[in-house]
Amino acid sequence: MIRSKAEKPNWTRKVNKGYLMEAESVLTEERMSKVLFLESIDSTNLFLKNISEEAPDRQVVMADEQTRGRGRLGRSFESPKNKGIYLSYLMRPSSIPEDTALITAWTAVAVCRAVKKICNIEPGIKWVNDLILNNKKFCGILTEMDIDEHGKIRSLIIGIGVNVNEDTGDLDAALKDKATSLKQELGREINRNVLAFEIIRELDRMYDDWPDEKEGYLNEYRRYSIMTGKDVSVTRIAVTDDKDLEAYKKRYGRVLGIGDDFSLTVEFDDGSRENLNAGEVSVRGMYGYAR
Ligand code: BTN
Repeated sequence: MIRSKAEKPNWTRKVNKGYLMEAESVLTEERMSKVLFLESIDSTNLFLKNISEEAPDRQVVMADEQTRGRGRLGRSFESPKNKGIYLSYLMRPSSIPEDTALITAWTAVAVCRAVKKICNIEPGIKWVNDLILNNKKFCGILTEMDIDEHGKIRSLIIGIGVNVNEDTGDLDAALKDKATSLKQELGREINRNVLAFEIIRELDRMYDDWPDEKEGYLNEYRRYSIMTGKDVSVTRIAVTDDKDLEAYKKRYGRVLGIGDDFSLTVEFDDGSRENLNAGEVSVRGMYGYAR
């Protein structure tokens, strides 16, 4: 893990008691003692990473705003104030790094469950872990890990960003065809805290289930997945020695399904088949992509 050069943050700086009332019916007081609320922070993932040595297992950090929210593949994640959920969760699973992709996929299922329960709407999963409604993304997941000298996971930070009450003007105009919020799709505001606490409850359940309940999560992931039968373009991503991301040329094909290891099975136009574990997959007709 690359540690930020910044000083260790003071992580006792804000606990807003108002939140505790809303949490009462969902999470116990003991659970809430491991949930930290920040008004504004560069990135909740980065903050949690910086306190991860002292923080207890299952520590959660939430912020009302992120000034440098981080997305996958070095992208940024827009995090306007008081609009979305920006939440990071610390796990110390007895796992090897290869399991990280699985845990991220399980997380997508956990967040779908929470959204379904609180918003009464069924989201879809665009492989690997974008949650979508009406072909637009409203939630992204970024998992970052710290590995020990024996190659085992020391800590895993699962970052979840949900667009909840953003109006069109709150999101980058360039993302107009790609991004949405729960409010835009439902036509009403959603209580961010109620949804966030349900997400935490589902993440705790997922952690309890890991790794034994694989079959259940896989079946549910397949049910939520919108990928099967879709035409896609695949851009392989390679990580070079200096951690720069290098994109290779695009290939086109059709998705056959989700493999037992949550990989994406694609049949390419030349007839070859591959189970993809990483890479960037664009779905025709989604996120403004047309071939
Ligand atoms: C993606 O879709 O590319 C992943 C987005 C992940 C955003 C969340 S918001 C909370 C946590 N803190 C961050 O800086 N990123 C994640």
